[in-house]
Amino acid sequence: MNRKIEELKKDFRLNQKERRLMIGQVQKEMQLGLRGKKSSLKMLPAFVCPPTGDEKGTYLAIDFGGTNLRVLAVTLKGNGEIAEPKICSHVIAQKAISGTKDNLCDFIVEKVIEFIKLHQMDISREIEIGLTFSFPMRQKSIASGVLLNWTKGFTTKGMVGKDVVRLIQKTFSKKGFPQIKIKAIANDTVGTLLRGRYSNSSCDMGVILGTGTNAAYIERAFNITKDKALCNKTGLMLINMEWGGFNLVPQTKYDKELDLKSSNPGEQFLEKMVSAHYLGELVSLIVDDFVAAGEFSSAMQFIQTKNCFTTQELSQIIEDKHSALPVTKKILAEKGAVRASQRDCSLLKEIAKIIMQRSADLAATMIAAVIKKGDCCSYREHAVAIDGSLYEKAYGYKENVLRTINSILGRKRKAIVPFVCKDGSGIGVAIAAAIASKS
Ligand code: BGC
Repeated sequence: MNRKIEELKKDFRLNQKERRLMIGQVQKEMQLGLRGKKSSLKMLPAFVCPPTGDEKGTYLAIDFGGTNLRVLAVTLKGNGEIAEPKICSHVIAQKAISGTKDNLCDFIVEKVIEFIKLHQMDISREIEIGLTFSFPMRQKSIASGVLLNWTKGFTTKGMVGKDVVRLIQKTFSKKGFPQIKIKAIANDTVGTLLRGRYSNSSCDMGVILGTGTNAAYIERAFNITKDKALCNKTGLMLINMEWGGFNLVPQTKYDKELDLKSSNPGEQFLEKMVSAHYLGELVSLIVDDFVAAGEFSSAMQFIQTKNCFTTQELSQIIEDKHSALPVTKKILAEKGAVRASQRDCSLLKEIAKIIMQRSADLAATMIAAVIKKGDCCSYREHAVAIDGSLYEKAYGYKENVLRTINSILGRKRKAIVPFVCKDGSGIGVAIAAAIASKS
C-alpha cells in the first residue's frame, strides 16, 4: 500500500481508546453547556417536551436550512400515526444563502404561498404552521428563536441576533397573509426527535447527518441549571446540542486548511469533519496535496479540484466495485483528468473511504456518548431517529455507523437502535406546532 495512504489512514483513524476518551470529553462538554459554562456544545433548550403520540390535527411545516427548502402539509392522526404528508421541495436560491434577510424571508414565504395556492387551501381561516430552522438559535419559548450564528456556508446579512419567527411572520403579513401563524420553531434535530418519538416511545435522540450535522436529546429539566426558570421545573425538555461545534477532536493538517478557507473559520470543527457540506472539499484538498507530492500520474494535474467532489460522487466512487473502476474513471474524466490511470482511481477510492469512514466513526461515537450520558450502563433500548442525505444515501455509511456503535457497546450492542427517520425534521415541527397550539 502507498505510504501516503498509510499515513492518511493513521491520521484519520479513531481507535477504541480515542473513542472512549472522546465519549468522556463529549459528556463533560454537555454538562458544562447545560450549566452555562464555557463549552463547545451550546446545549440549547428547545422549549418543547416529548410528544405523547396523541397530538392531532393538520399543520403546515417549513423545513429550511439544508440544501433544499421543503414545504409540507402534515396530518397527525393520533395513536402515533401520521398520514403521508404532501411535500414540495425547492433548491434554496443563492440569494437566500448569501443575500439579505429580506431575500431569505421573501424566498421562504413565497414558497409557502405557492404551496397554499397549489393545494387550494382555505385561506379564510387561520393556518397554523411550524418552522424548522436548522441553525443555532437561542429560544425563550417554542415560538421564538434568535439566530446565534450561521453555519454550512450561509452568510445572509442582517439576521444574526434577530428573532427568526418575527421576521418571517412580518413577511407573511407584508405579503397579505397575516392569517398564516407560526406556532412553533424548532431545529431540525428537534423535529427529527419529535417525529421519531411520536411513533416510538423508546426514541430519545434525533440526529441529522446531511449537509450539516447535529443532535437533540431528552434532558431532565432540573439538569439545565443555566436557566433558573427551567431547572426549578420537574419534567423533560428537548435539548439542541449543536454538536457540530464540538472542538476536541484532533484536527489533521487538511482539517485546518479546510477550516481556514471556510466562511466560518474557528467554528463547527466536528461538522467540518462529518457533514456532507465539507467531505468532498476535504477529499479535494487531499487530492491536491497528493498531486503536488507526485503521488498521482501526470493526468491528475488537470483535475479542477475547487469544490470538486460532491458527497454523492464520493459515495459512487466507494461503491465502484468493478476492478477497472469505471465509475471513478468517468467522474475523474468529467473533472478534467481524462487519462487518469487505474492506480489514480484506486488511490482516490482509498482517500474517499478514509474520509467517509472517519465521518461515520465520529457520528457513531457522538451518538454513543449522548445515549451513555443518560443511561451509562445501557439498561434499556434507545431508538435514535436519524435524518439526512449522508446517513440515508451514502454507500455503506449506515453500516459503518452501526459497526462503530456496536464495537463501543460490546455486549450491550442492542441498547442503541438507529433508524432512518425520513423527512423527520419537517414532520416533527408540525408536531411541535400541535403541542404549542394545544397549550
Ligand atoms: C446547524 C444545526 C443543524 C445542523 C444540521 C448545523 O450546521 O448548526 O443547527 O441542526 O447543521 O442541519
